[in-house]
Amino acid sequence: MKIDVFTLFPEWFQWFASQRHVQNVLATGSSLECVNPREHTPLSGGQVDDTPFGGGAGMVLRVDVLDSALRAHYGVDPVALRERRRVIALAPGGRLLDEPLVEELAREPALTLLCGRYEGFDERIIEHFASDVVSIGRYVLSGGELATMVLCDAVLRKLPGALGDERSATEESFSAALEGNPEYPHYTRPAEYRGWQVPEVLLSGHHEQIARWRRERSRERGARAPGHDGD
Ligand code: ADE
Repeated sequence: MKIDVFTLFPEWFQWFASQRHVQNVLATGSSLECVNPREHTPLSGGQVDDTPFGGGAGMVLRVDVLDSALRAHYGVDPVALRERRRVIALAPGGRLLDEPLVEELAREPALTLLCGRYEGFDERIIEHFASDVVSIGRYVLSGGELATMVLCDAVLRKLPGALGDERSATEESFSAALEGNPEYPHYTRPAEYRGWQVPEVLLSGHHEQIARWRRERSRERGARAPGHDGD
């Protein structure tokens, strides 16, 4: 998967890209590239944002600046870009990132992620350049960078090679293998600690019983989780 991140703070992503699981995916041919709109701005002094029309606090990322940056990077009119690849603007009011959306995005060959800053984007960026607007939660971050990293982390760990054991990504919380439920509890050595016992069945070596126990615990957790339909 080819991921391009449009951010005014590309240095934030150096740390992210250096993490082991991200490195593992990048080693299999995926890429994570940052483009700084400031380097493509047609405005003097590296200007990228402006005060909002109608007044109000904060600054808004300019549509002409993002137009230039996208055009410089892809060599096409950004209006046509979203026909070719998902162009995702990160914003607090967007579609909430959940496991089905992560799985959907993990199947894409390429993603373009737009990080807003300050008060966010000029709305014309969303209307004319973005294919999606995605939020990681109903709270406001100071920019889209951390939200982008959350999205990238969730998506990249779905790709082959990210995790040591491929099963870890299939049978995990909210996956189809667990019928969309949270994952079952895990235990490791010691089998007893301060009188706290690991459930007997997990020590039994009886794979069918273990699988059944896990499915039951996972369903229980799903029924308890807030927002769950309760089937
Ligand atoms: N930018 C600022 N806050 C955000 C959020 N909660 N999700 C996605 N992008 C954001």
